[in-house]
Amino acid sequence: MERAEERTGKFITFEGCDGCGKSTQLRLFSEYLEKTGTPYIFTREPGGGKISEAIREILLSGKNTEMTDECEALLYAAARAQHLRDRVQPALASGKLVVCDRYVDSSLAYQAYARGLGEDFVRKINAYALEKYRPDVTVFIDLTPEEAFLRKHGADENDRLEQAGMQFHKRVYEGYKKIAEQEPDRVVCVDGRQSVEEVFAAVLAELRARNILQ
Ligand code: TYD
Repeated sequence: MERAEERTGKFITFEGCDGCGKSTQLRLFSEYLEKTGTPYIFTREPGGGKISEAIREILLSGKNTEMTDECEALLYAAARAQHLRDRVQPALASGKLVVCDRYVDSSLAYQAYARGLGEDFVRKINAYALEKYRPDVTVFIDLTPEEAFLRKHGADENDRLEQAGMQFHKRVYEGYKKIAEQEPDRVVCVDGRQSVEEVFAAVLAELRARNILQ
Protein backbone atom coordinates (compact mmCIF):
# COMPACT_ATOMS: atom_id res chain seq x y z
CA MET A 1 0.00 0.00 0.00
CA GLU A 2 1.22 3.47 -0.86
CA ARG A 3 2.20 5.54 2.18
CA ALA A 4 2.47 9.26 2.71
CA GLU A 5 5.90 10.41 1.56
CA GLU A 6 7.01 12.11 4.74
CA ARG A 7 5.90 10.15 7.73
CA THR A 8 8.02 9.53 10.77
CA GLY A 9 5.30 9.99 13.41
CA LYS A 10 2.62 7.45 14.25
CA PHE A 11 -1.05 7.89 13.50
CA ILE A 12 -3.67 6.53 15.87
CA THR A 13 -7.42 6.92 15.71
CA PHE A 14 -10.19 6.33 18.23
CA GLU A 15 -13.60 5.05 17.15
CA GLY A 16 -16.87 3.96 18.68
CA CYS A 17 -20.62 4.51 18.75
CA ASP A 18 -22.01 7.79 20.09
CA GLY A 19 -21.78 7.76 23.88
CA CYS A 20 -19.31 4.87 24.13
CA GLY A 21 -16.95 6.79 26.45
CA LYS A 22 -14.49 7.75 23.71
CA SER A 23 -14.24 11.41 24.79
CA THR A 24 -13.34 10.47 28.36
CA GLN A 25 -10.67 8.06 27.13
CA LEU A 26 -9.26 10.68 24.76
CA ARG A 27 -9.05 13.20 27.62
CA LEU A 28 -7.20 10.69 29.81
CA PHE A 29 -4.92 9.79 26.93
CA SER A 30 -4.08 13.47 26.24
CA GLU A 31 -3.25 13.95 29.94
CA TYR A 32 -1.04 10.86 29.82
CA LEU A 33 0.83 12.13 26.74
CA GLU A 34 1.33 15.55 28.40
CA LYS A 35 2.65 13.93 31.57
CA THR A 36 5.08 11.68 29.73
CA GLY A 37 6.30 14.53 27.49
CA THR A 38 5.34 12.71 24.30
CA PRO A 39 5.34 14.99 21.23
CA TYR A 40 1.80 14.70 19.91
CA ILE A 41 -1.15 16.53 18.45
CA PHE A 42 -4.75 15.87 19.29
CA THR A 43 -7.30 16.39 16.57
CA ARG A 44 -10.78 15.29 15.53
CA GLU A 45 -13.05 14.56 12.59
CA PRO A 46 -15.06 16.06 11.19
CA GLY A 47 -13.02 19.19 11.88
CA GLY A 48 -9.49 19.83 13.06
CA GLY A 49 -8.80 22.97 10.99
CA LYS A 50 -10.53 26.15 9.82
CA ILE A 51 -12.14 24.78 6.64
CA SER A 52 -12.85 21.33 8.11
CA GLU A 53 -14.49 22.89 11.18
CA ALA A 54 -16.71 24.97 8.88
CA ILE A 55 -17.76 21.75 7.11
CA ARG A 56 -18.36 20.18 10.53
CA GLU A 57 -20.87 22.89 11.37
CA ILE A 58 -22.84 22.13 8.20
CA LEU A 59 -22.73 18.39 8.91
CA LEU A 60 -23.77 18.49 12.55
CA SER A 61 -26.31 21.32 12.39
CA GLY A 62 -29.80 20.24 13.43
CA LYS A 63 -31.15 22.47 10.65
CA ASN A 64 -29.77 20.52 7.68
CA THR A 65 -32.33 17.73 7.75
CA GLU A 66 -32.75 17.73 3.93
CA MET A 67 -29.10 16.78 3.31
CA THR A 68 -28.79 13.67 1.14
CA ASP A 69 -26.75 10.71 2.35
CA GLU A 70 -24.38 11.10 -0.61
CA CYS A 71 -23.82 14.79 0.16
CA GLU A 72 -23.15 13.92 3.80
CA ALA A 73 -20.59 11.25 2.90
CA LEU A 74 -18.86 13.55 0.43
CA LEU A 75 -18.67 16.37 2.98
CA TYR A 76 -17.06 14.05 5.53
CA ALA A 77 -14.53 13.02 2.87
CA ALA A 78 -13.92 16.65 1.88
CA ALA A 79 -13.38 17.73 5.48
CA ARG A 80 -10.98 14.79 5.85
CA ALA A 81 -8.89 15.69 2.79
CA GLN A 82 -8.41 19.22 4.11
CA HIS A 83 -7.72 18.02 7.65
CA LEU A 84 -5.04 15.61 6.43
CA ARG A 85 -3.27 18.42 4.62
CA ASP A 86 -3.67 21.06 7.34
CA ARG A 87 -2.88 19.11 10.48
CA VAL A 88 -2.15 15.41 10.09
CA GLN A 89 0.57 15.44 7.43
CA PRO A 90 2.68 18.25 9.01
CA ALA A 91 2.56 16.54 12.42
CA LEU A 92 3.47 13.11 11.01
CA ALA A 93 6.31 14.66 9.00
CA SER A 94 7.76 16.24 12.14
CA GLY A 95 7.67 12.91 13.98
CA LYS A 96 4.75 13.64 16.25
CA LEU A 97 2.17 11.15 17.40
CA VAL A 98 -1.16 12.07 15.82
CA VAL A 99 -4.19 11.19 17.94
CA CYS A 100 -7.42 11.59 16.02
CA ASP A 101 -10.96 11.37 17.38
CA ARG A 102 -12.76 9.48 14.54
CA TYR A 103 -11.51 8.90 10.98
CA VAL A 104 -12.43 6.88 7.84
CA ASP A 105 -13.86 4.02 9.93
CA SER A 106 -16.59 6.44 11.06
CA SER A 107 -17.50 7.01 7.41
CA LEU A 108 -17.58 3.25 6.84
CA ALA A 109 -19.67 2.56 9.95
CA TYR A 110 -22.06 5.55 9.68
CA GLN A 111 -22.30 6.27 5.94
CA ALA A 112 -21.49 2.91 4.29
CA TYR A 113 -23.17 0.52 6.72
CA ALA A 114 -25.73 2.53 8.72
CA ARG A 115 -26.93 4.92 5.99
CA GLY A 116 -26.60 2.09 3.47
CA LEU A 117 -24.38 3.80 0.91
CA GLY A 118 -22.22 0.70 0.72
CA GLU A 119 -18.54 0.09 1.23
CA ASP A 120 -17.52 0.63 -2.42
CA PHE A 121 -18.84 4.17 -2.64
CA VAL A 122 -17.41 5.23 0.70
CA ARG A 123 -14.03 3.63 0.04
CA LYS A 124 -13.90 5.31 -3.36
CA ILE A 125 -14.54 8.82 -2.08
CA ASN A 126 -12.03 8.23 0.73
CA ALA A 127 -9.36 6.60 -1.45
CA TYR A 128 -6.90 9.43 -0.83
CA ALA A 129 -7.11 9.00 2.94
CA LEU A 130 -7.21 5.20 2.79
CA GLU A 131 -4.15 4.88 0.57
CA LYS A 132 -1.90 7.56 2.01
CA TYR A 133 -2.94 7.86 5.64
CA ARG A 134 -3.79 4.47 7.02
CA PRO A 135 -3.72 4.62 10.84
CA ASP A 136 -1.02 2.56 12.55
CA VAL A 137 -3.57 1.59 15.17
CA THR A 138 -7.28 2.22 15.63
CA VAL A 139 -8.74 1.88 19.11
CA PHE A 140 -12.39 0.81 18.94
CA ILE A 141 -14.24 1.31 22.22
CA ASP A 142 -16.61 -1.61 22.02
CA LEU A 143 -19.95 -0.65 23.59
CA THR A 144 -23.35 -1.41 22.05
CA PRO A 145 -25.68 1.56 21.39
CA GLU A 146 -28.17 0.19 23.91
CA GLU A 147 -25.51 0.28 26.62
CA ALA A 148 -24.24 3.67 25.44
CA PHE A 149 -27.70 5.27 25.44
CA LEU A 150 -28.44 4.00 28.93
CA ARG A 151 -25.38 5.88 30.10
CA LYS A 152 -26.14 9.02 28.16
CA HIS A 153 -29.81 9.57 29.17
CA GLY A 154 -31.45 10.61 25.93
CA ALA A 155 -30.52 12.62 22.84
CA ASP A 156 -29.68 16.28 22.30
CA GLU A 157 -32.48 17.76 20.15
CA ASN A 158 -30.05 20.00 18.24
CA ASP A 159 -28.00 17.05 17.09
CA ARG A 160 -29.35 15.73 13.80
CA LEU A 161 -27.30 12.55 14.00
CA GLU A 162 -28.50 11.48 17.41
CA GLN A 163 -32.14 11.82 16.36
CA ALA A 164 -31.65 9.13 13.74
CA GLY A 165 -32.64 6.53 16.31
CA MET A 166 -31.58 3.27 17.78
CA GLN A 167 -31.86 1.16 14.60
CA PHE A 168 -29.36 3.44 12.91
CA HIS A 169 -26.93 3.22 15.82
CA LYS A 170 -27.23 -0.56 15.87
CA ARG A 171 -26.16 -0.63 12.22
CA VAL A 172 -23.23 1.67 13.08
CA TYR A 173 -22.16 -0.79 15.76
CA GLU A 174 -22.46 -3.77 13.41
CA GLY A 175 -20.41 -1.81 10.87
CA TYR A 176 -17.62 -1.30 13.38
CA LYS A 177 -17.63 -4.97 14.29
CA LYS A 178 -17.29 -5.86 10.62
CA ILE A 179 -14.34 -3.48 10.16
CA ALA A 180 -12.65 -4.92 13.26
CA GLU A 181 -13.10 -8.43 11.85
CA GLN A 182 -11.71 -7.40 8.45
CA GLU A 183 -8.63 -5.68 9.86
CA PRO A 184 -7.65 -7.28 13.16
CA ASP A 185 -4.04 -6.12 12.83
CA ARG A 186 -5.00 -2.47 12.77
CA VAL A 187 -8.18 -2.36 14.87
CA VAL A 188 -7.91 -3.00 18.59
CA CYS A 189 -11.23 -3.71 20.35
CA VAL A 190 -11.40 -2.56 23.96
CA ASP A 191 -14.37 -3.70 26.05
CA GLY A 192 -16.27 -0.48 26.82
CA ARG A 193 -18.37 -2.07 29.56
CA GLN A 194 -15.46 -1.92 31.98
CA SER A 195 -14.84 1.00 34.36
CA VAL A 196 -13.21 4.15 32.95
CA GLU A 197 -9.92 3.17 34.62
CA GLU A 198 -10.02 -0.37 33.28
CA VAL A 199 -10.76 0.80 29.74
CA PHE A 200 -7.88 3.27 29.93
CA ALA A 201 -5.46 0.63 31.26
CA ALA A 202 -6.48 -1.66 28.39
CA VAL A 203 -5.93 1.13 25.84
CA LEU A 204 -2.42 1.82 27.16
CA ALA A 205 -1.57 -1.88 27.24
CA GLU A 206 -2.67 -2.36 23.63
CA LEU A 207 -0.70 0.67 22.44
CA ARG A 208 2.41 -0.52 24.28
CA ALA A 209 2.05 -3.99 22.79
CA ARG A 210 2.05 -2.38 19.34
CA ASN A 211 5.08 -0.20 20.08
CA ILE A 212 3.12 3.03 19.78
CA LEU A 213 4.00 3.85 23.38
CA GLN A 214 7.11 2.94 25.39
P1 TYD B 1 -19.29 14.44 17.74
O1 TYD B 1 -20.18 15.41 18.43
O2 TYD B 1 -17.85 14.77 17.58
O3 TYD B 1 -19.53 13.03 18.37
P2 TYD B 1 -18.60 12.01 19.15
O4 TYD B 1 -18.26 12.67 20.45
O5 TYD B 1 -19.50 10.82 19.28
O6 TYD B 1 -17.41 11.73 18.27
O7 TYD B 1 -19.95 14.20 16.31
C1 TYD B 1 -19.38 13.45 15.37
C2 TYD B 1 -20.49 12.73 14.63
O8 TYD B 1 -20.12 12.61 13.26
C3 TYD B 1 -20.74 11.34 15.16
O9 TYD B 1 -22.10 11.12 15.33
C4 TYD B 1 -20.26 10.44 14.04
C5 TYD B 1 -20.36 11.29 12.82
N1 TYD B 1 -19.40 10.97 11.75
C6 TYD B 1 -19.84 10.32 10.60
O10 TYD B 1 -21.02 10.01 10.47
N2 TYD B 1 -18.94 10.05 9.61
C7 TYD B 1 -17.64 10.40 9.69
O11 TYD B 1 -16.83 10.13 8.77
C8 TYD B 1 -17.18 11.07 10.90
C9 TYD B 1 -15.74 11.46 11.05
C10 TYD B 1 -18.10 11.33 11.90
